[in-house]
Amino acid sequence: MPSYLESCAVLLAITPIAASLPAPELMASCNQTSLMNAADAYVAAQTAGQLDPLQSSLAGNWTYQENNNVMNVHNGVLSKALKIDHRRTNLDTTSCASYTELVITDSANPYVIGTQIHHGTDMQVTMIDSIASTTNSWLFNASKTLQHVLEEKWDPIPLSARDSRTVIQAAGDAYLDMWSNATASDAVPWGTPCTRLEGSAYTGSGKPTDSCKPGIPSNHTQAPNTHRRYVVDESMGSVSIFCVWEHMMMAADSHEFRLEGGKLRYVHTMTVCGGKPCKL
Ligand SMILES: *[C@@H]1O[C@H](CO)[C@@H](O)[C@H](O)[C@H]1NC(C)=O
Ligand SMILES: *[C@@H]1O[C@H](CO)[C@@H](O)[C@H](O)[C@H]1NC(C)=O
Ligand SMILES: *[C@@H]1O[C@H](CO)[C@@H](O)[C@H](O)[C@H]1NC(C)=O
Ligand SMILES: *[C@@H]1O[C@H](CO)[C@@H](O)[C@H](O)[C@H]1NC(C)=O
Ligand SMILES: *[C@@H]1O[C@H](CO)[C@@H](O)[C@H](O)[C@H]1NC(C)=O
Repeated sequence: MPSYLESCAVLLAITPIAASLPAPELMASCNQTSLMNAADAYVAAQTAGQLDPLQSSLAGNWTYQENNNVMNVHNGVLSKALKIDHRRTNLDTTSCASYTELVITDSANPYVIGTQIHHGTDMQVTMIDSIASTTNSWLFNASKTLQHVLEEKWDPIPLSARDSRTVIQAAGDAYLDMWSNATASDAVPWGTPCTRLEGSAYTGSGKPTDSCKPGIPSNHTQAPNTHRRYVVDESMGSVSIFCVWEHMMMAADSHEFRLEGGKLRYVHTMTVCGGKPCKL
């Protein structure tokens, strides 16, 4: 039990800080619940093909970016009503952002979409940043992607086994550096088993020996992967990185990595080449 005097000292130490902040009820805090609520509103908006469910969460000056281009949301995929077959959302309470993966197999409107939602200090959405892959995107086949996604286990990592956000992000960065850096592959914490879902192409066969190494670049003097944006979720061991895939038609690219016990377990990619068929 602290003595009265000790409690008093604590109060005195806290008061000046508390006085400089808005009243607690006016302070929107960035937590898993508030991030998930916004991601749910985004999914509802995508399902409806209209912004209404999101409207109250949007900052007045929010930005909509699709396939690395800032654009009018009314011309974007978010304004198409889509029947969503799969959805997974990871949350970053440190940078106040979320990453959502969507798979839509409807043959009239097939999509595999990655969306980072970035929030301001007041929890308002300041940016919706999407990579929307569809027909012509790299190795695109939404039903095949769905099949593989459903085979994977993205359970929360037990608290005692979590990697730090620095370790998780460094693994993703090292992987993306392999195109332009000869020693980067040594810095990737390759795991076994590890599977890569590259568009719809899967390196796994469900064996304990599955590896993510087949098809990684042997040419390390290619254009780098630039303009990276991150969403890190330690509870999922995951980092979503959006970038410009310069060495393939300046494509808009999403790579998501999951680490388990410090080792790479899953890689998911979506790559969009300005509406043209992607070609190396
Ligand atoms: C999460 O943040 C919201 C507001 O952004 C707040 O209403 C809620 O109480 C917070 N939840 C927790 C568990 O802190
Ligand atoms: C958007 O508005 C917020 C205040 O609501 C401000 O802090 C922020 O700088 C603005 N961002 C841009 C890009 O204008
Ligand atoms: C997608 O892959 C499935 C096999 O999983 C195949 O049956 C189907 O024809 C493919 N769709 C397209 C559009 O290539
Ligand atoms: C290349 O990758 C290695 C390993 O991650 C790193 O130590 C080095 O700084 C990188 N070099 C450049 C030029 O980025
Ligand atoms: C590696 O990529 C660079 C840049 O595209 C290209 O100039 C070079 O010919 C490639 N080297 C090999 C061995 O393919």
